[in-house]
Amino acid sequence: MLAIIGGSGLAGVPGMVVSERRQVTTPFGRPSASLVLGRVGAHALVFLPRHGDPHAIPPHCINYRANLRALADAGVDRVLAVNAVGGIHAGMQAPGHFVVPHDLVDYTWGRAHTFSDGTPDSDLRHVDVSEPFDAGLRANLLECLARARLPHSAQGVYAVAQGPRWETAAEVRRYERDGCDIVGMTAMPEAALARELGLRYAMLCLVVNPAAGKSGKVIAQAAISAALDTARVAVQALLADFIANDG
Ligand code: HPA
Repeated sequence: MLAIIGGSGLAGVPGMVVSERRQVTTPFGRPSASLVLGRVGAHALVFLPRHGDPHAIPPHCINYRANLRALADAGVDRVLAVNAVGGIHAGMQAPGHFVVPHDLVDYTWGRAHTFSDGTPDSDLRHVDVSEPFDAGLRANLLECLARARLPHSAQGVYAVAQGPRWETAAEVRRYERDGCDIVGMTAMPEAALARELGLRYAMLCLVVNPAAGKSGKVIAQAAISAALDTARVAVQALLADFIANDG
């Protein structure tokens, strides 16, 4: 079964007929919100709002382990995560541009980032994340973006910043030197935890602002909200097409 993890600006799945809102607890605590189970047409799926419902949990306080474990326990085997990001690469700075990242660099710290945490019930496992994003899910996303004729980049490296503050201009220049194209706050540990659980995982990223230092302007929440509003219909249509072609 497919799960969609919604980021900023995505509060549900278009056309989803909800059959259950399931409040669950895991050995790692509670997920961000109740799992929303249901169908879009013949496709069963689960929706989870990453920042809670209402949207209140900052990126570094999200219980990523509970989120991923709750989804796996519900029978999920693949995850599409939707994220708002800042654009670093010159071709990825325009609000409304989509990126399907193929790799990431993790700059976060202090997050509970693994199920191998040394507790008596955990195994010591070193998972391979040389390709953190699933090729099949990425291919479906790219076909949907092409069909919708939306501006997008077919690959990109996602810098995972700690937040919740935006970056300094020097941090963004450092990420750029490191080979990063976009910056967000939530891809890790989410992607690695999905891999530890054997869940296929990919991300649809929506650029909502040029990254710090890239536009000569401060990063304003109002402009980000406007970018999310403008893109809402496109994101919803993309998700509907993705789900129709999933599985
Ligand atoms: N930086 C980090 N995360 C983000 C940004 C940004 O500029 N925009 C949206 N999420």
